[in-house]
This record gives sequence, C-alpha cells and structure tokens, in this order.
Amino acid sequence: MSDKAKIILDGKTYEFPIVTGSEGERAIDISKLRDESGFITLDFGYKNTGATKSAITFLDGEEGILHYRGYPIEQLAEKSSFLEVSYLLLNGELPNKKQMEEFDGNIRYHSLVHEDMKRFFEFFPNNAHPMGILSAMVNSLSTFYPKSQDPNRPMKDVERTIYRLIAKMPTLAAISYKNNLGHPYMYPNNKLGYVDNFLYMMFGMPTEDYVGDPVVSDALNKLLILHADHEQNCSASTVRMVGSSQANLYSAVSAGIAALWGPLHGGANQEVIEMLETIRNDGGDIQKWVDKAKDKNDPFRLFGFGHRVYKNFDPRAIIIKKACDEVLKKMGVNDPVLDIARRLEEIALKDEYFIERKLYPNVDFYSGIIYRAINIPTRMFTVMFALGRLPGWIAQWKEMVENKEPIGRPRQIYTGATKRDYVALMDRK
Ligand code: CMC
Repeated sequence: MSDKAKIILDGKTYEFPIVTGSEGERAIDISKLRDESGFITLDFGYKNTGATKSAITFLDGEEGILHYRGYPIEQLAEKSSFLEVSYLLLNGELPNKKQMEEFDGNIRYHSLVHEDMKRFFEFFPNNAHPMGILSAMVNSLSTFYPKSQDPNRPMKDVERTIYRLIAKMPTLAAISYKNNLGHPYMYPNNKLGYVDNFLYMMFGMPTEDYVGDPVVSDALNKLLILHADHEQNCSASTVRMVGSSQANLYSAVSAGIAALWGPLHGGANQEVIEMLETIRNDGGDIQKWVDKAKDKNDPFRLFGFGHRVYKNFDPRAIIIKKACDEVLKKMGVNDPVLDIARRLEEIALKDEYFIERKLYPNVDFYSGIIYRAINIPTRMFTVMFALGRLPGWIAQWKEMVENKEPIGRPRQIYTGATKRDYVALMDRK
C-alpha cells in the first residue's frame, strides 16, 4: 500500500503523506497543502475531512461498529455503569476498584450547586427550554470557579473542573425541570448512585419518600452509556473548536450543549415524540406522513430516521430497541403515541424509499420512546442526551488540550463581491 498521495495541480505534482489509524482508516495529510501549492480543500459539512487524530472512539458507519477506547458498545451497555464508562473515556483505561471508588466519591462530593445559582433559575420565563437553561447555567459555572478560566492551570484544578461538571450537570438539569413545574428543588442525595440520584432529584418530592424503580435506572444507565461519545460529531467538534481558543472547559461544554440542541443533532429525540403526537392528532394516518417525508416538495422528514455516518445500521439503536421493548413490557405501558411509533417503524422499514436510502430508526427514535415511557417530559429529552454526552465532550476537550492542537480556524472560498468603492448615501440610487 502506498504511503504517499500524489495530487497534480496546475501541472505540478505534490506528494502528501498517507496516515493510517489503528483500525486501518486512511487519510491524506494535507496540512502542508496550502503552504506548498496555494490551494485549499473545500468540503461542506466536513463530510470527508478529518480534523484531528483521536484515540477515544472508533466508529465504522458501514459496518455499524462503535467502540469506546477499544471496548465494543454492546459490552459496555450490557455490563458497565455510566460512571465507569465516563472514567474510561476520560482516562483511556477501565478503572480498578480503588480508582472507581475515588472517581465516584469525587463526583458525589461535588454534586451541589452554589446556592446563588438557584436565583438564576427564578428569572427564566416559565416555559424556558431546559436546553437553553442548561447551556447558560453550565457557562455560568465558570464565573463561580474563576480559576477554571486560566488556560495554564495545573492538572489538579482541571480534574476538579471535570468532577464538578459531571457532578453538577444532573443537579442543574433537575432544577431546570422542577423550576418549569413550579415544584421545590430537590437537593442531591449523595448516598444514591449517579443515575438514581438524578431520578431522585427529578421525581422526588420533599413531602414524600422517594422509591426508585430499578427498571427505569437500568434503562437510563444504558441510554447514558450509548450517548457517552460519538467521535467528531457536531457538538464534540464544537467543544474542541471553542476549547482550541483556550476558552475554559465550562464554556466549551456550554457551546457543545447549544450545538446538541439542534433538531438535526440531539434535538431529534424531542422532535420524534412531537412528530408522533402530530400524527396522532391528525387522525393517525401513518402512510400519509410517510408519503410526506418522501415528497421532495415537502420539507417534512421522519425524525428519528437516517444518520450521517451509520449507513447500514446504528449499533446503538439495536441495543436501545431491545431495552425499549423490555421497558415497555415491564412497565406495562399503554400509550397510543407509542403504538404509532411501532406502526411507523414497521411501515417505513418496508418502504422502498427508506430501504434504498438505507434510512432506518436511529438511536433517537427509540430513546425518545423510552424517555416518554419513564415519564421524562419531552422537552427534557435533549437534556438527557447532554447528560450522557458530557464525558465524551470532556474527553474530546482533554485530548485536544493534551495534544496541544492549534486554534481551529477553517478557510473558505470567497464568493462575494470583488473590490468596489464606497458611494455616499446621497449619491446612491
Ligand atoms: N426522512 C426522509 N428522508 C430522509 C431522511 C428522513 N429522516 N433522512 C434522509 N432522507 C433522505 C434525503 O432527503 C436524501 O434523499 P435524496 O437522496 O433523494 O436527496 C437521502 O435520504 C440522504 O439524506 P442526507 O440528508 O443526504 O443524509 P445526511 O447523512 O446528510 O443526513 C440526517 C443525516 C441525520 C441529518 C438525516 O437523515 C435527517 O435529517 N434525519 C432526521 C433527523 C434525525 O433523526 N437526526 C438524528 C440523527 S442521530 C443523532 C445523532 O447522532 O446526533
């Protein structure tokens, strides 16, 4: 196999090294292209552009493979816990017992948010979207911990920032939910594990004893693991990009939350349920909506179908579909919207349009259904995704810092007006 790529530009041949990853992926390293030839590459949406070398997550969209630090997602979802996976993503190796206890202890220790932060929540409008609140609150954390703004701070401080972020995100998310309902906030109960503590802060009330449901915590633990990282996706790239300017970690993660909010990324899980409700309210004619999704003159798309990188199947969707069936069965859920989801899945999977384009339900299709079944409100769905993705974002940020990557600064091909002279307002037609 050749280790050089030749590119002929204006009759001159340039040679560039070929880089091979540990799973055999190959790239042409064009980092000297502009210096040597004056050309740049043009790649809308970075569909063919590798922006970094990364040792965190391996993903093969054609084969439906997803590994975190080499471990198959199927094994982690089946056997691990979200905190253990977080440790793995951040540190590259699974923890031993002592390391796990320390990590867990540090996360529990930092779960409270500063009392002053509670006041911020009071000033958001009642119907404020929890993703907007979460992004703002995570950014605000940097003002409570000003040392985090120093790009040269010692690793010990960075570690504390990482613990704080992982520990406080569920607390902030739960407060935003309680605030929305007008219910009193629940302080974290550090005797509980990460997932149970979050469910307690969401669904507990100071007036009654809270009894958790292991079926619900298991399902949530799986969902968080499945979402924990997905290599250079829109939000992870955003976190790396913002972090590359040496902005603090809280701000970089806050930007990642904003990127995740969009309906083409994490926001799709909310859109899935809203779409199913629309279909139900419209009389439940699923074929009509499938036809709309196929109509090129209609902007409607089936949310929860298709994926930018998985073109045969999404391994996460297979795991989560199984978990989804289990949760619905164990909880005895009877919900017309979920019936529509099942029928929609059946119809779309048999439809030539979807088969030809390899469009099948993605992780957001099933995660939306599980969240609904376990009573997470629709507008909180993307917040759940953000909770899961947090360790991935931090690992991506950490890798970018440790690799001393340069500030992200893409180029462009300018297509605007060429140089022209300013004309005074009174002289303009
Ligand atoms: N419904 C109907 N048609 C679709 C859909 C859909 N959900 N997704 C793609 N297509 C069609 C698209 O119109 C195009 O058709 P044609 O070749 O005739 O022009 C073809 O399939 C290829 O689509 P694309 O837009 O080029 O595919 P993409 O890889 O650029 O986009 C996507 C991927 C996820 C943005 C897109 O499939 C989509 O908008 N899906 C719905 C939103 C969604 O569920 N997003 C969550 C993704 S998973 C969460 C995550 O990992 O962030």
